[in-house]
Amino acid sequence: MIKTVKGCKDIYGEDIEIFRSVEKVLRDSARSYGFKEIVPPTLEYSELFQRSVGEDTDIVEKEMYTFTDKGGRSVTLRPEMTASVARAYVEHHFETLPSPVKLFYIGPCFRYEKPQKGRYREFYQFGVEVLNDESPYLDAEVIALAYEIGEKLHLKDLKVKINSIGCKKCRPHYKEVLREALKPHYEELCDDCKRRFYTNPLRILDCKRESKALKDSLPKITDYLCDECRAHFEKVQKYLSEFGIPFETDNTLVRGLDYYTKTVFEVVSNDLGAQNAVLGGGRYDYLIEEIGGRHTPGLGFAIGMERLIEVVKSQKSAQNEKEELVYIAYGKGLEKEAYLTAKRLRSSGFTVIVDSKGGAFGKQLARSRKRGAHFTVVIGEDEFKKGTVQLKDMEKQTQTEVKKEELTEAIAQISESKNGAKESNAPRK
Ligand code: HAM
Repeated sequence: MIKTVKGCKDIYGEDIEIFRSVEKVLRDSARSYGFKEIVPPTLEYSELFQRSVGEDTDIVEKEMYTFTDKGGRSVTLRPEMTASVARAYVEHHFETLPSPVKLFYIGPCFRYEKPQKGRYREFYQFGVEVLNDESPYLDAEVIALAYEIGEKLHLKDLKVKINSIGCKKCRPHYKEVLREALKPHYEELCDDCKRRFYTNPLRILDCKRESKALKDSLPKITDYLCDECRAHFEKVQKYLSEFGIPFETDNTLVRGLDYYTKTVFEVVSNDLGAQNAVLGGGRYDYLIEEIGGRHTPGLGFAIGMERLIEVVKSQKSAQNEKEELVYIAYGKGLEKEAYLTAKRLRSSGFTVIVDSKGGAFGKQLARSRKRGAHFTVVIGEDEFKKGTVQLKDMEKQTQTEVKKEELTEAIAQISESKNGAKESNAPRK
């Protein structure tokens, strides 16, 4: 049997239903903040990621799906989409558009990582990017959007963590201070961090293998920010507090991509285990210059769709919004009536399956049960003549005769009272 490639997966059943409903929330939220969609290609020249994400990052060093195409050019299946948006900005002269330029995207990304819960080799990202504006108001607004998405999806126990990692002016000095502080501990570091000690010691701060005690003992970057970065970070925190967005500062948050400057942030959930970041982002004021454009500040975040779906599932919130499944059983020759009843119910938002085989009602009901229908509408000959139907509540095993024109309302009322009861029985967190 041929199986899916390791780390890739089919998205089907409940997962694709949640994916699509979550996607709608994400798209609507982004649009309400003035973001417009962009669909970049999946394949880019490898150089784009080398110059933006950075040569010394895990992504570029170990995780890219890179190959030489038949024309001899090195191409890469994108590991993330910020670099593509930045490339598009320069290539299509988006600087001529009113700034800030606000773009959102959703699509597959590829990273050759060790697969585990919440970590795949092909995964979907939804992200937003704000370009050509350096106002700290936007940092706070973008974090507020991320938080609002969590609220709209009724996610509980999400934490917003923020930090500032400085800029080209102040970070080099902090790196030296950090190296000095780490020197006596060099031999205790893991192999990756021994290398990071020379290439990018900041990454040692978010290495899961290094102890919390060591990290707590190290100098904090926020004590070494230049005046501009400090003022920017203070304003971001002030706005977040004013907007009512709960957050905590985390001086070990540095993020695994080289393009970040100033504000970095993550939203984490305890429901995800080790891979607990649902989304991550930050400011990247030099990225567009790095890939050949003019100085253009920017910031954004990306959400891992699979991780978001995991959290939604584990918190059983999206299920409450799922439509009820209605099954229609009907007597001989009543196909038209069955079809028209289904049409009316569908137009009111219900998911409806009409039995396609007909025959004895007992058999049709058995097929309805097998499908997991919440209701079965039985249209028998007698009922048809009277202008009524039998409405069966499959869970309670009860049956009532209702007028045809009152069917939608009757189903809506029963399902509302059920969902209401479920919510009030649900344990409060
Ligand atoms: P990132 O933190 O590398 O940032 O990825 C963003 C999100 O993608 C993560 O928080 C996670 O939910 C998801 N993700 C990453 N790797 C995997 C994986 N192997 N399997 C499943 N989900 C994954 C970026 O990619 C930046 N481009 C974000 C950004 C946008 N910064 C500014 N603008």
